[in-house]
Amino acid sequence: MRALVVMVVLVGGPGCRNAAPSFVRTAAASDEHGASARRGDDDAPRRSRLAEGRQIFRFDTFGDEDFWGGALRLHQAIEGSAHGGVGAGVSPKTALAVGLKVDVDALSKATVDALQAGNVNLDDPAVTVALLTSNAVVGLTGFSDGKGGLRTLGIQCALCHSTVDNSLAPGIGHRLDGWPNRDLNVGAIVGLSPDLSPVAKLLGVDEKTVRAVLASWGPGKFDALLFLDGKAFRPDGKSAATVLPAAFGLAGVNLHTYTGWGSVPYWNAFVAVLEMHGKGTFYDPRLDDAARFPVAARAGFGHLKADPDLVTSKLAALHDYQLSLEAPRPPAGSFDEEAAGRGRQVFAARCAGCHVAPLYTEPGWNMHTGAEIGIDDFQASRSPDGRYRTTPLRGLFTRAKGGFYHDGRFATLNAVVDHYDSAFKLGLPGRQKSDLVEFLKSL
Ligand code: HEC
Ligand code: HEC
Repeated sequence: MRALVVMVVLVGGPGCRNAAPSFVRTAAASDEHGASARRGDDDAPRRSRLAEGRQIFRFDTFGDEDFWGGALRLHQAIEGSAHGGVGAGVSPKTALAVGLKVDVDALSKATVDALQAGNVNLDDPAVTVALLTSNAVVGLTGFSDGKGGLRTLGIQCALCHSTVDNSLAPGIGHRLDGWPNRDLNVGAIVGLSPDLSPVAKLLGVDEKTVRAVLASWGPGKFDALLFLDGKAFRPDGKSAATVLPAAFGLAGVNLHTYTGWGSVPYWNAFVAVLEMHGKGTFYDPRLDDAARFPVAARAGFGHLKADPDLVTSKLAALHDYQLSLEAPRPPAGSFDEEAAGRGRQVFAARCAGCHVAPLYTEPGWNMHTGAEIGIDDFQASRSPDGRYRTTPLRGLFTRAKGGFYHDGRFATLNAVVDHYDSAFKLGLPGRQKSDLVEFLKSL
């Protein structure tokens, strides 16, 4: 009976729009909790904390729905005027086209069967609403209004830092936490909001400018620093957005983000409070520097408090979970093992001074000026230390789309190697360059 109701919702049949999203399998890791407690083993508290951290990473909005739904009214654009919102609504087809992913494990078997048989109406925004209210859209949660529409909408870490393995269809599969979603067009999604005046006000520009900036990002990119310094474009006119980074393989790495803003828990608090607009406490007097961070200084971003605080109590478990995410191994056959073996030697001689195995970043203060790596200082100068952080290189294959370096300026690993070859005047013969690329693909 449950499944039937859901089927009707998902195939866009008449009526039943009010049905609760009964096709959700509880996505939490609560079963692990129970099992380990019963076993009574010493690892149980640790496993339960990781499960808690995973739950936070995937599903916690930190109260940010008051911003995304409450202020920007993004949910109204998604549900469309037919459900009390505005405009035509966002169909599942459109949602997938802007890079949103669907978690197959949150769908009932009936829904999966219907999808496989092509019986789900992917042009119907009501289907998007049903998916959103059942936590089936990775990183976005819709809160039902009980009438088939949405009351509000919140975002989660998983939005940008998870993707799916496409096991059922392109964009629909099992979650891959920590993998950057390089298909996700954050700017296009935020740009759907009927009211961007809160963002315009914060940045001190008009709404039209905000929309133009959002449109300039493109897939797989976001500009976390825009909301500190208001700089949307590089001096060469290109967008100042960065590519979405991996959130795996970070254990043992000192500084994080492309320009080394701080530790993992530093950045987690930063993002949850300043970017996602969750309700929490954030302290960083470096942001009081009005010459460098005019937007942040004006808004007092370095001294935020919320009551209740929905972020701080979650930072420990979230940190644990993130550190537990290992970089994935590249698929068998995706690189030439012999050439990679030779490339390892080239890497040890030319690259390992900074990318120290097995972290592939420096133990210690892992920061460099643009000049040291042969690039401009624009992005580095937007951050407190004016430097770039040595990127940990494991799992490079997960971020081939959208390019390498903070802004994706090098489309391929060959281009990265060519860059180092000329910047460091290495004079590598062609064979050593291609060996080096195979080694990078093997990480
Ligand atoms: C809208 C997309 C988006 C969301 C949502 C988001 N992030 Fe990020 N995240 C980014 C981008 C972009 C960067 C790189 C920022 C930079 O270097 O300037 C980043 C960087 C990071 C890093 C540093 C990675 C590294 O290479 O060291 C961590 C850790 C991280 N995010 C964790 C989180 C957590 C935890 C959440 C939820 C609380 C979250 N992010 C939510 C886009 C996002
Ligand atoms: C002086 C220190 C230093 C040396 C030497 C160095 N790198 Fe890097 N590497 C960096 C920094 C810093 C970044 C981050 C640049 C950015 O994001 O703009 C980086 C980024 C990269 C990336 C991009 C990773 C990503 O996900 O975007 C690759 C690949 C890479 N380096 C490979 C190499 C290879 C191969 C060599 C040797 C030829 C090398 N590096 C030598 C410091 C170094």
